[in-house]
Amino acid sequence: MTEQSPALDNLLTESRTFPPSEEFAARANATPEWYAEAEQDREAFWARQAERLHWDTRWSQVLDWSQAPFAKWFVGGKLNVAYNCVDRHVEAGHGDQVAIHWVGEPGDTRDITYAQLKDEVCKAANALTSLGVTANDRVAIQLQMIPEAIVAMLACARIGAMHSVVFGGFSPTALRSRVDDAQAKVVITSDGQYRRGKAAPMKANVDEALAGAESVEKVVVVRRTGDDVPWTQERDLWWHELVDPQPAEHTPQAFDSEHPLYILYTSGTTGKPKGILHTSGGYLAHVAYTHHAVFDHKPGEDVYWCTADIGWVTGHSYIVYGPLANRVTQVVYEGTPNTPHEGRHWEIIQKYKVSIYYTAPTLIRTFMKWGNEIPAKYDLSSLRVLGSVGEPINPEAWMWYREHIGGNRCPVVDTWWQTETGGIMISPLPGVTHAKPGSAQRPLPGISAKVVDDTGTEVGKGGGGYLVLDKPWPGMLRGIWGDDERYKETYWSRFAEQGFYFAGDGAKYDADGDIWLLGRVDDVMNVSGHRISTTEVESALVSHPTVAEAAVVGATDPTTGQGIVAFVILRGGVAEDEAGGTEAIQALRNHVAKEIGPIAKPRQIMVVPELPKTRSGKIMRRLLRDVAENREIGDVTTLADSSVMDLISSGLRSGK
Ligand code: WTA
Repeated sequence: MTEQSPALDNLLTESRTFPPSEEFAARANATPEWYAEAEQDREAFWARQAERLHWDTRWSQVLDWSQAPFAKWFVGGKLNVAYNCVDRHVEAGHGDQVAIHWVGEPGDTRDITYAQLKDEVCKAANALTSLGVTANDRVAIQLQMIPEAIVAMLACARIGAMHSVVFGGFSPTALRSRVDDAQAKVVITSDGQYRRGKAAPMKANVDEALAGAESVEKVVVVRRTGDDVPWTQERDLWWHELVDPQPAEHTPQAFDSEHPLYILYTSGTTGKPKGILHTSGGYLAHVAYTHHAVFDHKPGEDVYWCTADIGWVTGHSYIVYGPLANRVTQVVYEGTPNTPHEGRHWEIIQKYKVSIYYTAPTLIRTFMKWGNEIPAKYDLSSLRVLGSVGEPINPEAWMWYREHIGGNRCPVVDTWWQTETGGIMISPLPGVTHAKPGSAQRPLPGISAKVVDDTGTEVGKGGGGYLVLDKPWPGMLRGIWGDDERYKETYWSRFAEQGFYFAGDGAKYDADGDIWLLGRVDDVMNVSGHRISTTEVESALVSHPTVAEAAVVGATDPTTGQGIVAFVILRGGVAEDEAGGTEAIQALRNHVAKEIGPIAKPRQIMVVPELPKTRSGKIMRRLLRDVAENREIGDVTTLADSSVMDLISSGLRSGK
């Protein structure tokens, strides 16, 4: 596994703990007994969680693991996911409750009640049906954080079509590969989006992506910025012209518990993103339970805000499915945290009296950098639970979050999970857990995780190794879209003998047996909580005419967690001063942004004469990481040519 950085070692000397207040514990959704109850009968525990949902037909079996690693949960059960997230709340008399307090970046707002959301989802479901979309079809969605994004996802779920949401910041190339892989029939996007006070085009990028895309029959365009957009007469439709006139009645059909719900692409260790497949009943039970337990959410009382984007799994599970299944009132914000000023989030919390706030460590560190005085200007007394997700949170950031945002009163929950796990797996429970800054602590009741060594043997207290999930769970991925072999190979081959799911993360137990996550052990980088594979960035670099070879590493970065550092060898015949100059380097960075998206832009690109490789030709990223982090170069004995590192270091020192 990757060697640990000194910063991570520091984590393990952390000894502060914060017991829950008696007041909080007395009203907490979760109880300490849940751990033992789930341990005693895991399936019965999950069956109780599934009872949070409305089932048209009850399941006959909780778990069928006979085709492992392909799981079936709540076998024989039938339900409609959108009905569970919307209609049933209206039927129970909560139609007037606000589901979404939407805040646009320029300052426009919309409040949408459950009754209104139901009408919108029904209309959109009718609209998709009118376009010929039926159960099992795929619909790609590239939209910013506007209500139509949520409505579109729920409309797909309602008619049993799978959505594939593609993050708005992804390039046309990235969108196209996802559309092709899923063979999407319809694409839903907008004319443009507001980012940092400016309108940026979306539709034009989508058009570029879809040139010649054979599976796509229709493109539906939400009007947001009002800017002119290119138009393909036969193919394109305005959302408001298509959806608004539809009837607001739509009878939801019950689908099998294992009916596919969505595909979400995520980076793996190869260049080709994986389409992670999630299904209906188990997934919804998992996200509803965890949202209830981990955030202590009380419907009708709390105002919840998860700052993620629907382009990522956090947006799927903790903006759309879990919260809406639990009848949340939530804030959805379109823009960036510093537009028009650095207090925007706190202003929104103050205005809507947000009580549960869920964000990412990279943003917390950015807030720290902006200064304590900014949140101090606002009334944050409505807050009662704070969450963190996406990467390990360093104890300093955790303490700052607790003190400056949570007023030393709110429990902080550090939630570990992945696109593949569907929902939260390891996290403290507010009102139950004695929290430790920087640790995700314990698998949730119903979940089993272990830290094991190379041989798959669990390590003892104080020991470190790989994080594995040793029992199936309801929200688990059901495979990689169209590639069962890759699913087995990626997650289940490493500890095949034991039947463990290999998460790809390093972890440690502390002296109490609490789990500390230490970052990825594979070639996946985590930049501002976004997963980006080194191979993806390398492929983008070598697709540039001046680059012969490239190696990419994630180097520790104080704000973004990791920063992308690339080492490139130029092609023969390309003069170094021509291709290695500031402008040329900038052009290379932009090339990566164009190929993948701005989030993949390398922080730094270094031109080098050679790359360190093993005798079998594998690039030793470990050594490059040493260079990128200005550390002494580690063990070079397995290099085919051990002088390469001297060549690289001296070249860099001489400023080439
Ligand atoms: C990392 C995001 C430490 C981890 C929900 C994981 C974390 C990857 C945490 C999944 C956390 C996420 N502590 N590391 N609380 N949460 N990670 O698929 O490396 O975008 O494997 O899902 O993020 O990223 P993904």
